[in-house]
Parts: sequence; C-alpha cells; structure tokens
Amino acid sequence: MAKKLHIKTYGCQMNVYDSERITEVLKPLGYGASDDPKGADMVILNTCHIREKAAEKVYSELGRLRIQKEAMAKKGQRMVLAVTGCVAQAEGEEVLRRAPYVDMVFGPQTYHRLPQMVAEATRATGQVLDTDFPEESKFDALPVDRQVEGSAAFLAIQEGCDKFCTYCVVPYTRGAEYSRPASDVLAEAKRLVAAGAQEITFLGQNVNSYHGEAADGSEWNLARLIREAADIDGLERIRFMTSYPAEVDDDLIAAHRDVDKLMPYLHLPVQAGSDRVLQAMNRNHSVDEYRALVDKLRTARPDIALSSDFIVGFPGENDTDFRDTLKLVEDITFIQAYSFKYSARPGTPAALMDFQVDEAVKAERLAELQALLNTQTLDFNKAMIGKTMAVLFDRSGKKPGQLVGRSPYMQAVVVDAPEDLMNTTIDVTIEQGGPNSLMGRIFDDNTKACA
Ligand code: SAH
Ligand code: SF4
Ligand code: F3S
Repeated sequence: MAKKLHIKTYGCQMNVYDSERITEVLKPLGYGASDDPKGADMVILNTCHIREKAAEKVYSELGRLRIQKEAMAKKGQRMVLAVTGCVAQAEGEEVLRRAPYVDMVFGPQTYHRLPQMVAEATRATGQVLDTDFPEESKFDALPVDRQVEGSAAFLAIQEGCDKFCTYCVVPYTRGAEYSRPASDVLAEAKRLVAAGAQEITFLGQNVNSYHGEAADGSEWNLARLIREAADIDGLERIRFMTSYPAEVDDDLIAAHRDVDKLMPYLHLPVQAGSDRVLQAMNRNHSVDEYRALVDKLRTARPDIALSSDFIVGFPGENDTDFRDTLKLVEDITFIQAYSFKYSARPGTPAALMDFQVDEAVKAERLAELQALLNTQTLDFNKAMIGKTMAVLFDRSGKKPGQLVGRSPYMQAVVVDAPEDLMNTTIDVTIEQGGPNSLMGRIFDDNTKACA
C-alpha cells in the first residue's frame, strides 16, 4: 500500500513548483501525495522566510504536528516530519533546536537527495540536515516525467537572486542566480504539454535575468525562450514571473508585442513610488524609469495589464514618500497587487537602518494603499462586463454545473457549463465583475469564435 505523503506549501510559486517536484522524487519510494495530514507517513512543510510572520507560522504548525506525530507513535506508527524551503535554508539548525522532533531539514537546492535523506532519517535515531548549495544542479537529478493537475503548470527556468534588495532574504535562501539550459526547459515544457498542460508559467526569482545555454552553445534570453516555447503544439498560453523591472529589456517588450500565446498580463513589482525609498531599497531604477518602462510595454501591447508588489513602511519612508507611492498607483493602475508592511529580516541591510517606521504607521499606510489597489482591481473587473474573452476552464465551481477558469488576466471566471468543457479554452461573455471573480456565460457563437 502506498505510504501517505502530505506537503504543506507556503510562500511563492517557486515553492509550489518545488513541492510538485518533491512529490515526484518521493513517488518511487512508495509515497503518494494526499491533501490531508491525518495519519500521514511523511509530512513536509515547504516554508517561506520572506517576512517574520511567514517564518513564525512554521513553528506553530510544527507544534500541532508534534502532537499528531506523538499520537501516531503511541499506536506504533511513524510519521517522518520534514521542513524544507526558505526557513530550512535560512535557519536549519534553529529549526532542529526549536523543534527537535523534526526528522529532516533540507534546503530548496538539495531535495533531489531525498532518497538518501529518507533512508538516513528512518534509521532509528537519524536526524538529517542538508542545506548545502551543491555544485550539481538538482534539475539534472530530478525525475524526467512530469505530472500536471488540470491544465496549467509551473516550470522553473531560473532560480536564485543576485540583486540584493536591502530588505530581502531571497539572495541568501535561494543562492546565486542560475539559469537552466534552454533545451532542458523546452524538453520539460513539452513533457508538461504531453501531460495535459495548456498554460505554462515560467518561474524564476528574477525570471527576466534568464540567460540559459542553448544547444548550439549560444545564450538565450527570456524573450528567445518564450518565442521558441510558443512553437510547441498544444501549448496555448505562456506566462512568466517574477520580473525585475530594471532588467526588462527591449527583446522582452517585443515578445509581448509579437507572441500571441504570451498573455497580456505582467507582474512587475515596483515596491514603492519614491526615488529616495527605491534607492534605499537598492532597486536600481527610478520612479520615472518605471513609468517609462510601463509606457513602452503599453505601446508594444496596448491591452497589457499590470500587477505589482508593494512594501510600505520601509525604513526612512516618510509621509511624502508614501503619498508618492499612492500617486504612482493612481497613475499606472494595477489590476492586482500584493502589498505588505515592511518586515525587518535578520541579516539584511535594511534591518539595521535608522528610522524604522512605527508599526501603527505601517498599518495605516497599508490600509490606505490596499483600499486604493482594491478599487483598481474592482474597476478593472467591472470594466470586463459585456466583453467576451477566452477562458481556460480548469476546475469545478462551488455550485453543481459550474466551471471555473482563468481569463488572460488571471481573473477567476465562473460559468454555468457542462463538465466536458473542463480543460478547454472557450470564449465567455462577462456578465458580472466582483472583487475576486467574474461571472459569465458561454459566448453564443463559440464554434465560430474558437475556429
Ligand atoms: N523577486 C521575487 C521576490 C519575492 S518576494 C519575486 O518577486 O518573486 C515577494 C515580495 O515580497 C517582494 O516583491 C516584496 O514586495 C515582498 N517582500 C520581500 N521582502 C520583504 C520584507 N522584508 N518585508 C516586507 N515585504 C517583503
Ligand atoms: Fe528579493 Fe530583490 Fe531579489 Fe526580488 S530582486 S528576490 S525582492 S532581492
Ligand atoms: Fe518565500 Fe523563499 Fe519564495 S522566502 S517568497 S518561499 S523564495
């Protein structure tokens, strides 16, 4: 009988991708994935270290799992408890100290070694810590076959970060920038399509710094990779994230102009709208440069929509700086955004900066920014009413007879539709737009529209 594996994933899409790959590594060892931690033979927490809250969540979850592990032990059953992801990388020793009942701690670059780790950890007293940045790339050692749930898949093409924004832990938890060879990426893309993927999102901490070696020894940038991937039959939609604005080049903008399969939606984190703050963050661009970049993108692809990330209350951010962020948001318009209170992270330069902002001020600014961003999302969703757009259905709705899919802009679209339209792209006329989703009906003349 298959052993039960439960992985709980925190943080970014890269972690979601890693969790899928970890499942694939463990499959030959007899583990089958389950959504339920109850009675699991192995529980893995794939963690995020980006903000203090994210990291602390892990310890409270471990406390709950300890009770379950002990209850199982009383019945003579063994639960292997593991921590991976960015908390494991950043504070592996600390995890073992604070939670000594954890069996394995491994970083995001070593999970291809899981078969050995599991063997060691399941010996009577074994506890395993593996947070190397190994010479060999995990990608070369991972199982070749890919599985796809639904019709959208993630594909990691680049990992790590050399940008060292002064607030951010990622360069420390994920290591230096690494681009996978282009032929490996295309081969994985083809396997994902063969396994049912119609939409692929290329992932990287700095995805547009991608410079992968091609078969002929030349180097491909992200734009080239997108153009080549667009030739894969059966692949309908291409996305990528996350981009570093200072390195969006003309090739990538041209790809947005030329490649129909590249969705007109770009996540372009700006963090703040004040030059002083951007400089202190070490973002390598000014507010005007960001505005100019957005103009270029919109000229190349007029229907492109943007989403972004924001940090409020960065050390030294005063009220004028914050007003400048609001002004930028008003001018640009983001259809979606993630915004956070600045969280001081140990080991990062910003944690030691003077003029840390009061928590209450951060909370006020965050509320004001989010109110503005939420209006922009809602306005955009309402502006869809009456329009017809392509929706890729990939899950069932809450009510019987409903399907839910994604628009080109990643909006969730709920439609009354027969089950056999699952995993197909159909034109939908939008009838309602709310803060989190759209409702629509199948476009009357779909046969014509789909031709
Ligand atoms: N380049 C990566 C960054 C991942 S972190 C990517 O964009 O995927 C995602 C977001 O978390 C960042 O864009 C930033 O807005 C936020 N963030 C990072 N460090 C933070 C910190 N110390 N406090 C608050 N928010 C932070
Ligand atoms: Fe962090 Fe900046 Fe690198 Fe993004 S670009 S991962 S925010 S250091
Ligand atoms: Fe979090 Fe690591 Fe991703 S810190 S955001 S899981 S790269």
